[in-house]
Amino acid sequence: MEEKIRPPERMDTDRLWLRPVVVGDAETIYETYAHDLEVTRFATWVPHASVVETQRYLQACETGWREGTAFPWALIRKADDRLIGSAELRIDQYKAEIGYLIARPLWGKGYATEAARVLVDWAYAHPDIYRVWATCDAGNLASARVLEKAGLVFEGRIRRWLRRPGYKGVPRDVLFYAKVK
Ligand SMILES: CC(C)(COP(=O)(O)OP(=O)(O)OC[C@H]1O[C@@H](n2cnc3c(N)ncnc32)[C@H](O)[C@@H]1OP(=O)(O)O)[C@@H](O)C(=O)NCCC(=O)NCCS
Repeated sequence: MEEKIRPPERMDTDRLWLRPVVVGDAETIYETYAHDLEVTRFATWVPHASVVETQRYLQACETGWREGTAFPWALIRKADDRLIGSAELRIDQYKAEIGYLIARPLWGKGYATEAARVLVDWAYAHPDIYRVWATCDAGNLASARVLEKAGLVFEGRIRRWLRRPGYKGVPRDVLFYAKVK
């Protein structure tokens, strides 16, 4: 059987360092973004109602790392060691999907682009990964821009692809982006 591909636990950018999220981050992550309706507007999950929900989510994240199904990192700002968001790689054989989010007060400072770039560059450099890809809601213009800046190319708009709780379950159009070999 083929070996599963695993990314490094630690990665670095100019202003950030990345490490796996852990259950011990629950309070910080709840306060920083998981309760925030604006941050979760284009997500597939509803804002967490309590720290307990964030703990449950982080337990699943730890399982993801252990079993090699998903690799979610905390984004830590080097200047003050503050957790400012998270980013994730999901690797399926020869494909790597990326995702990210940033705490609302820190939007527009290039942090998501920095995190996306390091994940895209790592995945694209891996000899067995042929497709680095992501999707975003058709209304999420900031995220689409981040994907472009990270080197992904727009592939198409899939209409009525995904239900998002933030839109009362009405299926939304989704944009596909990728960088392929
Ligand atoms: C999407 C998100 C991660 C962007 O994070 P960020 O750190 O603000 O992103 P960056 O600063 O690196 O880049 C944002 C880019 O989008 C642009 N942008 C922001 N709002 C925009 C809008 N309404 N229309 C068009 N462009 C917009 C910015 O100008 C910037 O591009 P530029 O550098 O060319 O000027 C952040 O808004 C977020 O966490 N949103 C909620 C979670 C989410 O949607 N995650 C992505 C799921 S696919």
